[in-house]
Amino acid sequence: MVRILASDGIDKSAAEKLRELGFELVEQFYEPDQLGAELKNYDVLVVRSATKVRKPIIDAAAGGRLKLIIRAGVGMDNIDVAYATENGMKVTNTPNSSSASVAELAIGHMFALARFIAAANVTMRDGKWEKKKYKGIELAGKTLGLVGYGRISREVAKKAEALGMKVLYTDIIGEVPNCTYEYCQFAEVLKRSDFVSLHVPFFGNPLIGAVEIEMMKDGAYLINCSRGGVVDEKALLDALNSGKLAGAGIDVFEEEPSKNMSLINHPNVSVTPHIGASTVEAQKRIGEETVSIISKFFS
Ligand SMILES: NC(=O)c1ccc[n+]([C@@H]2O[C@H](COP(=O)([O-])OP(=O)(O)OC[C@H]3O[C@@H](n4cnc5c(N)ncnc54)[C@H](O)[C@@H]3O)[C@@H](O)[C@H]2O)c1
Repeated sequence: MVRILASDGIDKSAAEKLRELGFELVEQFYEPDQLGAELKNYDVLVVRSATKVRKPIIDAAAGGRLKLIIRAGVGMDNIDVAYATENGMKVTNTPNSSSASVAELAIGHMFALARFIAAANVTMRDGKWEKKKYKGIELAGKTLGLVGYGRISREVAKKAEALGMKVLYTDIIGEVPNCTYEYCQFAEVLKRSDFVSLHVPFFGNPLIGAVEIEMMKDGAYLINCSRGGVVDEKALLDALNSGKLAGAGIDVFEEEPSKNMSLINHPNVSVTPHIGASTVEAQKRIGEETVSIISKFFS
């Protein structure tokens, strides 16, 4: 019988489906020093983001049954993909399932900032009624610059257009054929946008640091629902403190859980703890995609 370990849990309906299909599923988190040895007895490992599958774990699992590792989500930065592949393990993810959820969160952060929703929640709970302080702006008529024009950005673009925003985009692969939004160079997106929303992978260095922030419009807003590290948090905090940027919406942090309390507590910041894909619908779709990958692999 094919044995599957879901070390960070799995959507309930996906778990039921896998068992129905005859797979043996164990939902159990192991500490890194135990995981490798445990994996010798499993054919499949399904992880979300908590489990890190690095070299020592792969070394300990090598020579056992493990042949498929699935990252139930987008990105595979918690897995040493090249090393696992060298050791005969196929590594894959579920890139399509969470785009709509992340896009809604990015738009949610824009509303939170434009109308001081995050800040007003905090001050009202302190017994304050700061009506005059919270004169906001409308998203309609504002320019949204999308950095990276992949799956999530395309969802953000549709929603932003429906809200009456003008959408600009940039991507390292260049202009996308038949796209109705305006393509610009990265610098021009920064220069012209009232809101800049980042939807790129993290390649080890910040894409947005002090230089890039300086290129942005005075009083612009920055949204990061992509990956921690894409934005230099120190440069961002400086820009918020100086008033260069009017606000930032942040779901992902350089270190998670983040201890950057100056940034988290900043009154012009709207924060969430990396919940871009944390919706009932996205988790259900991720579960379905996971079941489909496993079924095909063993068919
Ligand atoms: N907050 C969350 O919970 C959450 C959930 C899912 C995905 N994400 C992250 O969102 C990001 C985007 O995901 P996606 O599914 O849209 O990915 P995608 O691969 O579909 O799109 C990414 C796009 O970025 C472009 N790109 C890469 N580097 C670039 C650069 N330097 N400048 C401009 N464009 C660049 C690529 O060409 C690609 O078109 C990823 O980092 C992913 O890990 C976050």
